[in-house]
Order: sequence, then C-alpha cells, then structure tokens
Amino acid sequence: MKVFVTGVNGQLGQEVAAILTRKGHTVISSDKDSMDLSQPENIENFFTQFPDAIVHCAAFTAVDKAEDEEQLCMNVNYRSTSKLCDVARKADIPFVFISTDYVFDGTKQGMYTTEDATCPVNVYGRSKQLAEEYVLKYPKSFVLRTSWVFGKGNNFVKTMLKLAQQGKKQLNVVCDQVGSPTYAYDLASAICSMLFTDKYGLYHVTNENFCSWYEFAKQIFTEAGYDVEVLPVTSDQYPTRAKRPLNSRLDKSKLYTNGFAPLPTWQDALSRYIAFLKKEGECR
Ligand SMILES: NC(=O)c1ccc[n+]([C@@H]2O[C@H](COP(=O)([O-])OP(=O)(O)OC[C@H]3O[C@@H](n4cnc5c(N)ncnc54)[C@H](OP(=O)(O)O)[C@@H]3O)[C@@H](O)[C@H]2O)c1
Repeated sequence: MKVFVTGVNGQLGQEVAAILTRKGHTVISSDKDSMDLSQPENIENFFTQFPDAIVHCAAFTAVDKAEDEEQLCMNVNYRSTSKLCDVARKADIPFVFISTDYVFDGTKQGMYTTEDATCPVNVYGRSKQLAEEYVLKYPKSFVLRTSWVFGKGNNFVKTMLKLAQQGKKQLNVVCDQVGSPTYAYDLASAICSMLFTDKYGLYHVTNENFCSWYEFAKQIFTEAGYDVEVLPVTSDQYPTRAKRPLNSRLDKSKLYTNGFAPLPTWQDALSRYIAFLKKEGECR
C-alpha cells in the first residue's frame, strides 16, 4: 500500500512512517516545507496522484500559542484537515485524523465516551472539534482522540528531564488535571493496525491507566533515577495562556469492542521511553 503521512518530523508522524515502512508499505510523507498546512488553498494541488490511504499526523500543537494565533491554528488544524479529507473522499481512500482530549471541557464526573458532546475550552480544542465534525462526515474516516503524547520530540517528559539535568531539586507540577500519557510509538502501532480495517469511526486511543501531571512527573524522575522533589499545585496556582480541561479521562471501550487491543499502560510506556532516551544518551 502507498500511504501518505503528514507531519513526518513530528512525534507521531515519524513513528507511523517508520512502522509502515517496516511492514513493507510505501510511505510518501510531507513536512512543513513540502506542504505548508497554513495555506489550505494549496493542499489539493499537492496531489498529482492519489495514495491508498492518508494518515494525517501534522497539526498546530502549541496550545498556549494558539490563543494568540487563532487564524493560523484554524488554518492548520481545521481548514487544511478538511482539504486533506476532501482529497481522501475524491480518491475513495481511508483517512486518519488525530484529535485530542481537549475537545472536552473536563467538567464531567467519570470518563468521557465517544458518545459525549464536545465543548472545548481553548482555541486548539475548537480547531480540532471543527475538524472532527468535518472528517466524521466522510464514511471512510478514522478520528482518533489521544492525549499527553510523548515520543521523539519536545514533550513533558523531556521538559522534566531537562530541568533535572539543569540541577532543579524541587518542582511544582499541576495535580488536578488527570488524563493518560500516551507514547507516540504505541499510538502509531495502534493506528497502523486500524488503518487496514474497515472499522471506521470515532475512537479514543491512549495508553492505559490515568494519572495527574504531578503523578506523571514523579514517575518520570523515579524511572530516570533523578532526585527531584515534586510538589503538587492546582491549575489555579499555575495559570497558563490557554485554559485546560481538568478531567481528560477517555473511555476506550469502543476500541476494545471493535476488536483492537488495549495499548500498554502509561507506566510501561514511560519505562520503555526512558530506556530509549538512555540508549540515545539523552538521559543519564
Ligand atoms: N502532543 C500531544 O500531547 C497531543 C495530545 C493530543 C493530541 N495530539 C495530536 O496528535 C497529533 C500528533 O501530535 P505530535 O505530538 O506528533 O505533534 P508534534 O510533535 O508537535 O508534530 C506536529 C507536526 O506538525 C507539523 N506542522 C505544524 N505546523 C505545520 C504546518 N503549517 N504545515 C505543515 N506541517 C506543520 C510540525 O512540523 P514542524 O516540525 O516543521 O514544526 C510537526 O512535524 C496531532 O494531530 C496533535 O494535535 C497531540
């Protein structure tokens, strides 16, 4: 199969491209230079011939910056996604779009199911909500909501490790936002196993188990062997430009009932990731 992957330099895109290549598929990829998603009007011209599937991993992911760059965020995340979905529809091929826990406002008690109404509280979440609505009208689409991604790129784990390496002995970390850290490699593996089925639709796909950012930070330092004291603070004590949902717990039962395997736990994923960073010399 010839699969077109966007965002090939991003955390998820590079894993999807690597796994598909290993499985013997031909990967055609794009990055910001070859296909700039801030210019939705140019998307269709990019395709001189059609692939057999599109996995759309690129996105404007700077959640705080999006509050001040709404137009850019909407162009990349919503308008360009719509254009890519139009290409898939024209070619009658599967289209995978990655969405986020940030489509919810986080006020629900308990886990969010794929049936729950969305209600984003920031620009990034709104851009993804609009894209979801558009993409889900295409019958051969997969919309996969994920959360708290870490992989070969900039992410929370690397930020914590950098602070430890700079000699920080004490850190305040938010304890009232709860969700699932998700390893880009595990998510990419799930995408690649779903892509060649006809079980289209909306899914929640994250590593198993939930934690707060505070608990996640503590586990990062334990796993990496750094002696850093982590102090819990509330979101109110740690204001950010974009508001974030407190409850990001996603119910993944639709994934299991459709016969897809649960992803490993986030603790297991973190352990493999830290081992990878150690091997690469990015962590002592
Ligand atoms: N990261 C998370 O915590 C998280 C959580 C929930 C959902 N998601 C979703 O999961 C997917 C993968 O995220 P990720 O963590 O892999 O993100 P990432 O590492 O930030 O990668 C995003 C990619 O999008 C590309 N991109 C940004 N603006 C672009 C533009 N104007 N034109 C073309 N490409 C552009 C970036 O290119 P450059 O490298 O050139 O900037 C980058 O390669 C995204 O849809 C994201 O919204 C992520």
